Amino acid sequence: MQKDIKTEFFKINDPSDGQKELELAGKMIREGGLVAFPTETVYGLGGNALDPSASERIYKAKGRPSDNPLIVHISSAEEIYPLVSELPKTAVSLMEAFWPGPMTLVLKKSDVVPATTTGGLSTVAIRMPSHPVARALIKEAGVPIAAPSANSSGRPSPTKAVHVLEDLDGKVDMIIDGGESDIGLESTIIDLTGDTPEILRPGYISEEEIKKAVGSVKQDPALFARPDADAAPKAPGMKYRHYAPKAKMFLIKGNKKAALAEMQRQAQKAEKEGKKVGILCEKEDAALFEKYSCFVLCENENEEEIAHRLFSLLRETDKAQIDVLFSLSYKKGRLGDAIENRMLKAAGYNVLEAKDEL
Ligand code: TXA
Ligand code: MG
Repeated sequence: MQKDIKTEFFKINDPSDGQKELELAGKMIREGGLVAFPTETVYGLGGNALDPSASERIYKAKGRPSDNPLIVHISSAEEIYPLVSELPKTAVSLMEAFWPGPMTLVLKKSDVVPATTTGGLSTVAIRMPSHPVARALIKEAGVPIAAPSANSSGRPSPTKAVHVLEDLDGKVDMIIDGGESDIGLESTIIDLTGDTPEILRPGYISEEEIKKAVGSVKQDPALFARPDADAAPKAPGMKYRHYAPKAKMFLIKGNKKAALAEMQRQAQKAEKEGKKVGILCEKEDAALFEKYSCFVLCENENEEEIAHRLFSLLRETDKAQIDVLFSLSYKKGRLGDAIENRMLKAAGYNVLEAKDEL
């Protein structure tokens, strides 16, 4: 990989132990530099959200199309006011219920936010993360921080600083290592510019929880559809190929027994064709797939664990040079939508339906 600049690397577990480094990082942001930092969802690649040239540097470092807008991160709720031209009641209810935390709101932007940051849109996505290091950094910078996930465009989002290093060493000024991201999947994005709040990207905050806070909510119908289907997703970034491992991935649906049997059949077939087979599975099922490379997602369908490990495991399948990768689908519990959405994208919408055995 071509290295354009020297990337500084700091470890900060707690803001009070890293004050000097945080001051340096804040200054870097104010002066137009790029700092990758930890959040509770995934690592972010941050720059001054109010500086158009910083946003341009972010797009370039990620290799991201510049029509794909960035999320603006703030450190306290009041910082939202200068960034938006309207703050509907639903926004206030959601902010009270879920901030700081893994929820992003799409609102009409004010003139303070440059069009480069919002990919030319008249709306802006805003989030107040709960990770103490993220909040301390934003506060120290004294400006809102635009931050997409800190991966190269198309790769799985980073949940550890080492993932950021893999993708962005030599492309950003600084990486702050704050340990593993707790949640592991990106924030829930809710558009509040229409009549009814609409989920543009499912995440840790579920549809059910949002409904409780604001009464009604709908889901962008394009969320689980192939990108070539009629309806284009409303979050521009959701239309791009994403989270893709190098392996060709398949998601297997159906009742669990039948799906596991189908996975065994498919794995055997691929192996006969000379392919290196990888299996994403639960610990209890790993014994069924001993002759292949197993990557353990969780125990007992624990969806928090699946969310926490998925992106990291997809990167491991790359390192293991897996050619074909199989996983069951986990679209069930509270995090089912978020997990299914990421898995479908990683699999390029390759789905196999397992037939119930008679
Ligand atoms: O958890 C997260 O949200 C992480 C951490 C770093 O905060 N950030 C993140 O950013 O996932 P990114 O850039 O990888 O994904 C942002 C998504 C993209 O799909 C983008 O198109 C959408 O948000 N988005 C941003 N601004 C938008 C807007 N004004 N309207 C609709 N979608 C928007
Ligand atoms: Mg991303």
